[in-house]
Amino acid sequence: MNPTNPPSLHLVQSQDLPRGINSVRALPAPDLGALWDSIILEDGIKDRLLSQAVLNYTLRPKVDRTALPMHGVILLVGPPGTGKTSLAKGLASKVASLMKGAKFRLVEVDPHALTSSAMGKTQRAVGELFSQSIAEQAANGPTIVLLDEVETLASDRSRMSLEANPIDIHRATDAVLVQLDALASSHPQLLFLATSNFPQAIDGAFTSRCDLVIEVPPPGPEAARQILRQCLATVGETFPAIAKLAESRDLERVAQAAAGLDGRTLRKLVVNAMAMRKETAMDPNRLALADLEAAIRNTQGSRRAAEGERQ
Ligand SMILES: Nc1ncnc2c1ncn2[C@@H]1O[C@H](COP(=O)(O)OP(=O)(O)O)[C@@H](O)[C@H]1O
Ligand SMILES: [Mg+2]
Repeated sequence: MNPTNPPSLHLVQSQDLPRGINSVRALPAPDLGALWDSIILEDGIKDRLLSQAVLNYTLRPKVDRTALPMHGVILLVGPPGTGKTSLAKGLASKVASLMKGAKFRLVEVDPHALTSSAMGKTQRAVGELFSQSIAEQAANGPTIVLLDEVETLASDRSRMSLEANPIDIHRATDAVLVQLDALASSHPQLLFLATSNFPQAIDGAFTSRCDLVIEVPPPGPEAARQILRQCLATVGETFPAIAKLAESRDLERVAQAAAGLDGRTLRKLVVNAMAMRKETAMDPNRLALADLEAAIRNTQGSRRAAEGERQ
C-alpha cells in the first residue's frame, strides 16, 4: 500500500474525476472525524447539525415528499474562519459513522472550476455536474456532497445586473435549482452540505430549498478559552513553560479580551503572540499571557483599520 495515498481515502484520482468534482472519498474517515472534534462551539450548534443530517437518512427516504418536502440541503453561514468548511466535512464523516452498515461517500465540488469556464458554458457545466456526475455518485449509495462557498453556484439573481454579470451565470443559478429539485425526488440518500461567507449573495430560491440554514458564529468567551487552551497545550508538549499557561486561571481573562475573533484567528494567536518580541521568538518558553493580550489588541486594531478602509 502506498502510504502517501491510501486507496481507502481517495477512491478516485482527481485527474479521473469529472469537471467540477474535486475529490470522492469513502466515509467515515478518521481525519474528518478529528476535524469535527476540533471545532469548539457553544449553544448545541453541532448537535443540531448532526441531528438534521441524520434525519436525512432515518426519515427522508421513508416519508412521502408531498407531506414532508425535504430537499436534503443544509446551509452553514457565518463570517470567514468560523469553521464552516471544517464542520461540513466533519459532519459528513460523523453521519456516516452513526449510520452503520451503509457505504457513504463524500463528494467535494469545486464551484470555481465551473464558473470560470468559457462564456456560455457555465450553465451547461453546472447542469452536467448535477444531472450526471453527482447523480452517478448517488446511484452507488448514500452520498454527501460538499458545496463550499455556494454563493458562486447559486448567486442571487435579483441582485445581478445583467450588464455586469453574464446571463450565463444567471442561468447557472436556474440550472442549480432545477437540478436540486430533480435530485431531491430521485435520490433521497443524497445530502448537500453547503457553506457561505456571504449568505446575502445567495439566491432566495436556493435558501428556501434548504432543510436547515444554520449560522455559525465566532466562538464565545468559553469556546475561545478552550481553543486557546488547546493551542497552548499542544505547543506545551514541546515547550513545557507554555503548558503552564494553558492551565492558568488568567486564561479566562485573555479569552474575554479575544471576544469576536474567529476560530482561525484564535488559532493563529499563539504564534502571533510569540512574534511580539524577539526574545519569545528565540525562546518560545518565555511566552507570557501578556504577549497573548498584546497580540489580541494588535489583531483587533488592524481589523478595525481594515474595516475603516473598506467603508
Ligand atoms: N469554533 C472553532 N473552534 C476551533 N477551531 C476553529 C473554530 N473555528 C475555526 N477554527 C479553525 O479555523 C480554521 C479555519 O476553519 P474553516 O473551516 O476553514 O472556516 P470557514 O470555512 O468558516 O472559513 C481551521 O483550522 C479551524 O480548525
Ligand atoms: Mg470555508
